[in-house]
Formats: sequence, structure tokens, C-alpha cells
Amino acid sequence: MAELSVFRCISCDINYNINEIRYRCDCGDLLEVIHDLSAVIPNPVEWKTSVESDYGDIPFRRYQKVLFPSLPHEHLITLQEGDTPLYDVSPHFSQFGALHLKHEGMNPTLSFKDRGMVAGVSWANYLGCEIVACASTGDTSAAMAAFAGVAPNMRGIVLLPKGKISPEQLAQPIASGALTIGIETDFDGCMRMVQELTQKHKIYLLNSMNSVRIEGQKAIGIETLHQLKWQVPNWFVIPVGNAGNISALGKGMRELYDLGIIDKLPRLAGIQTEGASPLYESFKSGYSPLTPQQAKTTKASAIQIGNPVSFKKAVRELKHFDGVIETVSETQLMDCKARIDRLGISICPNSAVAVAGAMKLRDADVIQEKDEVVVILTAHGSKFSNTAVEYHQDSSNKFANQTQTIAPDIKELESVLKL
Ligand code: F0G
Repeated sequence: MAELSVFRCISCDINYNINEIRYRCDCGDLLEVIHDLSAVIPNPVEWKTSVESDYGDIPFRRYQKVLFPSLPHEHLITLQEGDTPLYDVSPHFSQFGALHLKHEGMNPTLSFKDRGMVAGVSWANYLGCEIVACASTGDTSAAMAAFAGVAPNMRGIVLLPKGKISPEQLAQPIASGALTIGIETDFDGCMRMVQELTQKHKIYLLNSMNSVRIEGQKAIGIETLHQLKWQVPNWFVIPVGNAGNISALGKGMRELYDLGIIDKLPRLAGIQTEGASPLYESFKSGYSPLTPQQAKTTKASAIQIGNPVSFKKAVRELKHFDGVIETVSETQLMDCKARIDRLGISICPNSAVAVAGAMKLRDADVIQEKDEVVVILTAHGSKFSNTAVEYHQDSSNKFANQTQTIAPDIKELESVLKL
């Protein structure tokens, strides 16, 4: 089955065997996985019928023919990820033709990273890798540790920027049994170290620089389109950090289009914070080459990244999908988080970046009045509880819901409740 897929360099088009452990081309550029999809799916109508009858199965298996046909089923490591809700919040946001929120925070480790790890850790299992590693702003590490923790004979090593991830995110890899190492640097520094480590030693890299992970993440867009009965919205809006997820979203939809499963392409909008916006800077100047930044502290700590590894892939998808990049401020993102949380949809600040970006693009009429929009929410609010507590404690915030502390006295309670 492995002959259905190859690694191909995104710049010089050289192919490499998919069974090699390799993350870059000899020229130094990134690789992507190319499958012989028309051999696997000769008839798109039959494929659509087959995914309907596979509805009871996990999404990775249901969509596997378009995700990663080369992975033998017996090597699959799954935590029952996917089948996340797609909320229609249009009644609350009448400025849009329609607004849907795809909540990837409703995955087993509470972020979209599980979608990539089912592919990445299963492939590591197939290759017989006993040690896997990643650098992370907190969600990749949680997912990798959880999947590696249930794989036979596999140990996870996670490198985290010390003091820059939430307590909940830190708890996850520890609880899953991974070797958890805080490094006194930022994410970009951890990323440099994990690349060197995995080059020197027999340790398998599971950041999204490993293009196998991207194949799993394609499921987010594909499942969304399936939920929309294959009716393609005008826009997908997504937060951007290391730029793997926007690359996966684009690749998956390109492949569906090429197979004739969908008949139009959406536009893509990638959203960053004002203090960590290398892709935005490039976009503004007509996609100039990446100038790495020293990313500034943001409540959206998972996307505090100044040197995105998948920059080139993201630019390619943005061009293909007539995309745009926007930035949002800390106030805009936290106000948006509060609004969405109030709808019973608990989101993280990184997801809120995308929602705030959609609002900003609608205000500027880039997203138009009649447009149907899907925003990808990337993690659950419970992973970042400190940001909500801080926001609501400060009465100067637009949607603050301050808590009060009183003595254990009924009169005092009645007085606070104005009874
Ligand atoms: N949202 C969340 C919650 C994330 O954790 C990340 C990335 C992103 C958005 C951005 O996705 O990097 O593919 O552009 N988190 C990585 C990590 C960097 O280590 O968990 P991207």
C-alpha cells in the first residue's frame, strides 16, 4: 500500500520513498506527502456514498482514502478523535450570510492536534519508532504525549518554552507519561532544539514539519464540508502560528476539488496577533520572503511564534485559495472569546483570534454581507482558564463578569444579591 504515497519536495519536486524517515529534501526545503488519489478514489460519487455508510467509524478511517491511504489499519493508534461539532451561530452574528464554528477543542486532548497525531503517531508505530519528540506551545505536546502513551513500545519527549504555556497544558504530557522538559527559551528556540535532537539521534520528530501530520489534519476541513453536505462556504477562517494547520486545510480541499468531490474552492483567511505576525507582514508586501520575528507575549500563547516552519506551504495555499492574512489586538481577541464563551461554546484565546479576525474582515467588507463563513476553533477554553479568570476580574473589560468574595454570612449574601 505504501507505494500509493511519496514524499515530494515543495520546491524542487524530487520524490522520496514514504518509508524513509525524512522531514526535509536534500535541498533543505519542506516535503509534502503526495498520494495517487485518483487510483484510490476513481469515482467521487461512490466515495461520497461510502463515507455516508462509514458514519459510525472514526473520521480518520472514514476519510482515510483522501487523508493517508498508505497507513495499514493494523497500525492505527486512535483516541476516538474527530466528529467535532459544527455550530451554526448565524442568529447571533447577523452581519454574516452564515457563521459556523467548527470546534476542534472538542477532541480528546481538547485541541485540533489530535487530528494530526492519529496520523503521525500511527505512522511512527508502523515505522517501529520507539521514541517520538516535539517542541510545542502546549497543544502538540498534549496530543503527542497522549497518543504515544497508548501506542505499544513508544515514549514521548516534549520540549516546552518554560513559563510560556498554561498550567492545564503542562499537566497533559506529564499525566500521559511523556518526558516533559521546560527550556528557558521561546517556542522558536524549542523548535530549533528538537530539529537538532531528531537529526542526531534515533528519535522521530512529530511537529507539523513532519508532513505525515499534515495529512491527518486535512480531516478538519473535509469533515466540515461533509457536515455542510459538500456545499462549500465562501470562507474558512483559521488562526495561524507555525502555519501547519492552514497548509493542511488548503491541501485537503485542493485534493477534494481535484478529485471532483467539491465543485468550488472557498477563500482562506489566516489570522495572527499583532505581536506575532510574520505571515501578515509577508502578505502585506505581496508575500515577500519570511522575516522571522521575536514574537511578543500574547494571551493567544499557542500562536506566539515568530518563525513559522510551514511558512512556504501556507503561502502556496493562500495564493491558491485567494487568501488573506489579518491581525487582531489583545482586546479584540479577548472580547471575542467572552462573546463566544457566553454562547455555551468554550473557546481558547487562539480560537478567538480567528473569530475576531472574521469580524474585522467583515467590518472591512473583505468578507461580504452574504458570505457564508466557517471559523476553525482550535482548542477548548478549559486549557486556558487563567485568561478567562483574568479577563472577567477586570471591570474595564467590555464583557467582564466579576466574581465577588464575601464572609459566610447570609445577610451579606442577601445584600450582594439585592434581596
Ligand atoms: N491554535 C492552537 C490552539 C494551537 O495550539 C496552535 C498551534 C495553533 C492554533 C496554530 O496552528 O501552528 O498549525 O499554525 N500550536 C502548536 C503547538 C504550535 O505546539 O501546540 P499552526
